[in-house]
Amino acid sequence: MKLGVLGGTFDPVHTEHLLLAVEAANELALDAVLLLPAPNPPHKSGAVTDYSVRKKMLEAFVSDAADVGIKIIIDETELEFYPEPSYAYKTLGRLAEKYAGDELTYVIGSDSLFKFTTWKNPDAVACTMPICVYPRGSAEGVKEECDRLNALYPGARFFPLDAVTAGVSSSLIRFLTETNQYERAEAFLTPSVYAFIRSHGLYGEYSLLTEKLKSELPPSLYVHSLNTAEWATEHAWLGGVSFDKAFTAAILHDAAKPYSPMFGLSFYPAGTPMPVCHQYDGAVRAREVYGITDGEVLEAIKFHTTAKENMSETGKLIYLADKLEKGRNYPGIDELRTAASRGLNEGVAAVLRHTVGYLLSRGETPDPLTYKAFEWYNNERRQNGSESIG
Ligand SMILES: [Fe+2]
Ligand SMILES: [Fe+2]
Repeated sequence: MKLGVLGGTFDPVHTEHLLLAVEAANELALDAVLLLPAPNPPHKSGAVTDYSVRKKMLEAFVSDAADVGIKIIIDETELEFYPEPSYAYKTLGRLAEKYAGDELTYVIGSDSLFKFTTWKNPDAVACTMPICVYPRGSAEGVKEECDRLNALYPGARFFPLDAVTAGVSSSLIRFLTETNQYERAEAFLTPSVYAFIRSHGLYGEYSLLTEKLKSELPPSLYVHSLNTAEWATEHAWLGGVSFDKAFTAAILHDAAKPYSPMFGLSFYPAGTPMPVCHQYDGAVRAREVYGITDGEVLEAIKFHTTAKENMSETGKLIYLADKLEKGRNYPGIDELRTAASRGLNEGVAAVLRHTVGYLLSRGETPDPLTYKAFEWYNNERRQNGSESIG
């Protein structure tokens, strides 16, 4: 039998997984696709939904997929390694034994492809079975990266699927449910999985927080906050930031804007201009009114306008999300979005260069924190061997 191997957290499983199973089955002439849920995924930061709940969603998904004409099987090989993280090199080795008479192809997304060299024992993963890559959102650079890895790991066979998927992610679905946008979420879920999520109240941990925020912000600022949280949760993987940190910092980053400046409650460095006060007030309000205690989240809110030197991954993510969310439109933003898609440091450096350049061109003085951050990320990039942004 020809089998495709599709691993993941499936938190939750969604229509892109279905599309992918269909496309891989068609292009590779597969007899069946194995779905391998990871009990303890090594690449995820933050909590994941309980394995038994994710497995029930997968069962609902398989029953919904029965009509598409391909066989999908839930394979629980990775339970053998629990509670150790389920590294791909171990899983693939075990599958090669278990399905010794079958022809296996490992299927991964292009986001994983571009981080492949950071995986544990990548040479072992690369050489156990052929690796088929599905381009998520865009096929740009995928073929080239496959060729590069084939040259890097002798015996490896990376190759791309022709189909390009829409780039729907579990993070997007979770963002939608946490913000009570169930109609949009439903479009990305199979019927039984959607029904399961609703009936079990999954992915609604922050729905009350979101409702409260909505009642406190002017509509346009609420939409900006939603857009910022969508960008942040979608790009959190770039910095290994958990959904919870990305979501809470982004959705609350402007929570104090209608109330700022909150003299007597916040501390503002000398000379802070009025429009900047809301970042300091925001951290206070997130803590006092919304009960946020995560120091990294509060710090990210506190410097989301100015940026600062040596930000945490969450700090960089929120700074970028605020400037690049889909409602923003200013000259040069497309280039900044492209830079950010290559990495948080590169994105922050580009946005700071843009901001400082814009202010200087208008004869305005950048905030001292912004200017220091500009210099710091410029140096950071030089140390990393990237081109200077100066
Ligand atoms: Fe702001
Ligand atoms: Fe903002």
